[in-house]
Amino acid sequence: MTAKQNQYVMALDLGTTGNRAILFDYEGNIAAQAYKELTQSYPKAGWVEHDALEIWRDTKTAMQEVVQKTAIQPQQIVAIGLTVQRETCLLWDKTTGQPLHPAIVWQDRRTAHFCRALEAKGYVEEIYDRTGLVLDAYFSATKLHWLLDWVKHNRDIDPANLLAGTIDSWALWNLTGGKVHRTDHSNASRTMVLNLDSLTWDEKLLDLFAIPGQIMPEVQPSLGHFGVTDPAILGVEIPITAIFGDQQAALYAHGCDRPGLLKCTYGTGAFLVANTGAKVTRSQHRLLSTVAWTQTNSDQSLKTDYALEGSMFTAGSCVQWLRDKLGLIDSAAASETLARSVDSNGGVYFVPALSGLGAPHWDMNACGAFLGLTGGVTKAHLVRSVLEAIAFQAREVVEAINQDSPAAIQQLKVDGGACNNDFLMQCQADVLGIPVERPMVLDATAQGAAFGAGLTVGFWQDYRALVENRAINRVFEPGEGAANAQANFAVWQEAVGRAKNWAES
Ligand code: G3P
Repeated sequence: MTAKQNQYVMALDLGTTGNRAILFDYEGNIAAQAYKELTQSYPKAGWVEHDALEIWRDTKTAMQEVVQKTAIQPQQIVAIGLTVQRETCLLWDKTTGQPLHPAIVWQDRRTAHFCRALEAKGYVEEIYDRTGLVLDAYFSATKLHWLLDWVKHNRDIDPANLLAGTIDSWALWNLTGGKVHRTDHSNASRTMVLNLDSLTWDEKLLDLFAIPGQIMPEVQPSLGHFGVTDPAILGVEIPITAIFGDQQAALYAHGCDRPGLLKCTYGTGAFLVANTGAKVTRSQHRLLSTVAWTQTNSDQSLKTDYALEGSMFTAGSCVQWLRDKLGLIDSAAASETLARSVDSNGGVYFVPALSGLGAPHWDMNACGAFLGLTGGVTKAHLVRSVLEAIAFQAREVVEAINQDSPAAIQQLKVDGGACNNDFLMQCQADVLGIPVERPMVLDATAQGAAFGAGLTVGFWQDYRALVENRAINRVFEPGEGAANAQANFAVWQEAVGRAKNWAES
């Protein structure tokens, strides 16, 4: 056994629904993991909050648990890679380490009115030109604006003690014992205050959202040294050597490091991301231009990979909603059995707009809907229509990507918890008319963070070999359901049209 076979890389995957620590071995396989589900708070209609202290507490506990449940010693962990839910942001007091308000989650729509006011003032184009993003409550800038205003009226704090950040910055600051306040370009590109060309905070936008530049984290390459862990956590200092937004980390794990390669992660939402290479590609179909990741070349210049993204806000979360709020299923897995128990959707179409609609509609006022209900409809039809809707919305985004790209997409690489659902994956292949490739390790976000961290410290040397060694679990080919799925897709698009702009009506 070589020394490296006795060593590990830890990935911290801090997602919307839970926080996870995973140890990856030299072969790139999962050696152990620990997970804790995260509490979701919905204080008002359209509002979604997380307790940032809970995120940090659970992260620390997961790090300690994953080590305790194996014979692995912390000294054997050569690096940590961090990947997080994006856009979710908070303010905290650097002297006490206390958040000043719960974190506002990416799904939260409380700033939709503010977005509309900015739209009325003609800012849409300028914001898109500077950031690559559509003006929407999804991104951090309007949330930080809201938080700063709230703190001004409700907290007595010296502005010099204020820090702002997305979840990666919050976790990094805690991991390093309050020493490091940084972020990486992939997370920063989701705030709507990072200039996509200069890759620095955009002064004009900081002014527009009244965010003081000094409270923002320093931005650095996604692959690089961010700091070392506080020994109080695991007894040793471990370098943190990669930070990615979770969707970008999955793109990295899938080996999508050049134009034409894309993936879809089915997590809380579903996020289709395509690498567009070293230059920013602008979409004609309301996709986002964003940073995939950055690294430093041997001559110390910055190497940037950009991406196009179609963000769909509701995917796994609508299965969770069926389970937790409607009680139609008792586990996510039961959705597959129930969907297969009927041979069609019974004429029912679901609009998955539980947090408004993202790409390509960008409608903050759209609301979820079941259409086509008749007396013969059973809960199996409802559940089946929800799974179909997840696949249909991905088809809309693939169409947009195809229209923006010189060559049509030939295959979709997938990951995320909902990929375990074979019914959903077959439906996805049927409605897209292309193969859908599912890897063995569905935690691609964590795997990408681990790969980045391990490559940065030289634990692994060859990115290509690493990603090509990943085992494929199954390829779903378009099958006999394809014609039907495509016909249903057309009806579903009409249903979406009816649910748009509902909150304003
Ligand atoms: O942009 C939001 C996204 O990063 C959330 O990802 O996996 O927590 O649904 P996930």
